[in-house]
Amino acid sequence: MLNNKTILITGGTGSFGKKFAQTVFQKYPGVKKVIIFSRDEYKQFVIKNMPEFQPYLEKMRFFIGDVRDRDRLYRAVEGVDYIIHAAALKQVPACEYNPFEAIRTNIIGAQNIINVAIDKGVKKVVALSTDKACAPINLYGATKLCSDKLFIAGNCYCGSKDTRFAVVRYGNVAGSRGSVIPFFQKLVKEGAKDLPITDLRMTRFWLKLEQAVEMVLEALETMHGGELYVKKIPSMRMPDLARAIAPDLPIKEVGIRPGEKIHEQMITKEDAHNTIEFKDFYIILPQITMENIQHKYPEAKPVPAGFEYHSGNNDRWLTVEEMKKLISEI
Ligand SMILES: NC(=O)c1ccc[n+]([C@@H]2O[C@H](COP(=O)([O-])OP(=O)(O)OC[C@H]3O[C@@H](n4cnc5c(N)ncnc54)[C@H](OP(=O)(O)O)[C@@H]3O)[C@@H](O)[C@H]2O)c1
Repeated sequence: MLNNKTILITGGTGSFGKKFAQTVFQKYPGVKKVIIFSRDEYKQFVIKNMPEFQPYLEKMRFFIGDVRDRDRLYRAVEGVDYIIHAAALKQVPACEYNPFEAIRTNIIGAQNIINVAIDKGVKKVVALSTDKACAPINLYGATKLCSDKLFIAGNCYCGSKDTRFAVVRYGNVAGSRGSVIPFFQKLVKEGAKDLPITDLRMTRFWLKLEQAVEMVLEALETMHGGELYVKKIPSMRMPDLARAIAPDLPIKEVGIRPGEKIHEQMITKEDAHNTIEFKDFYIILPQITMENIQHKYPEAKPVPAGFEYHSGNNDRWLTVEEMKKLISEI
């Protein structure tokens, strides 16, 4: 699939971008070039010096740039076959406090990627989304929902050009920057007397970075344009996570925070009539007028009316023991 292809990863220095680049080099030795596109020179310097990337430096390019800057994107996308759009502002409180910045990166940035991809003849674009974009209650989720919709609409917007856009939506990546596992681990290390949980009923999806990368590669390979892919992944109960990290510490319920849900959602009831199911994932089909792509998936079955997929109604749950094992692997 990636033989002789050039891929640009926006946010290529982030948790996802690094893992994605590494996986591409390992699985697709015939890849022509991987371009890391991000703002901070230091993070790029760090990657250039990571042992896992040393064998591949010849095929890597490092572009300093901001997805808000369309001119820079025009330059960076020269000769690019595929774009993986991972750059985002993604911390809920930061987006809430700096709403215009979140809009500029997550929405205007998406618009720039779409325009530049079409104008420069990029073949496929996969944009990353989050469970927080589904029925959003905070600005981060709302900007990502806008971004999802822009990318799906990009398939119509491109007119006679054949650039295709798809979205991959997933939930919390276990252990990623700023997530709850490193937070709990830090508290334990600092000798905390208890672990704070905002609400004892809280559940979350659990995804390994490798699974996110796999889903994006699968989307890149199978997409026709207009798909919103949702991977089937297990859920965890937050008190179980606390027990997995510190079995002997008491749990303190501290109250739900603004912008936080009890369960994170990936597919709403309203999406159900447009959702088809595969063994390992769902696809929410586009609702806007565009080529009907459902017939391209004859093996998929529609989900039942009223179906919804959230971390509280999952049929796959992680036990404390399973979580302990997964944490040791991060
Ligand atoms: N982590 C999760 O749990 C999770 C869950 C669901 C979905 N996602 C989605 O997955 C994607 C990747 O997340 P991640 O965990 O890899 O995030 P991350 O580790 O915070 O990385 C974000 C990347 O984006 C770059 N970036 C930020 N603003 C930029 C801008 N304006 N222009 C260009 N690059 C910019 C950052 O580098 P610089 O700061 O150097 O620019 C960094 O490389 C995001 O779209 C996020 O919404 C993440």
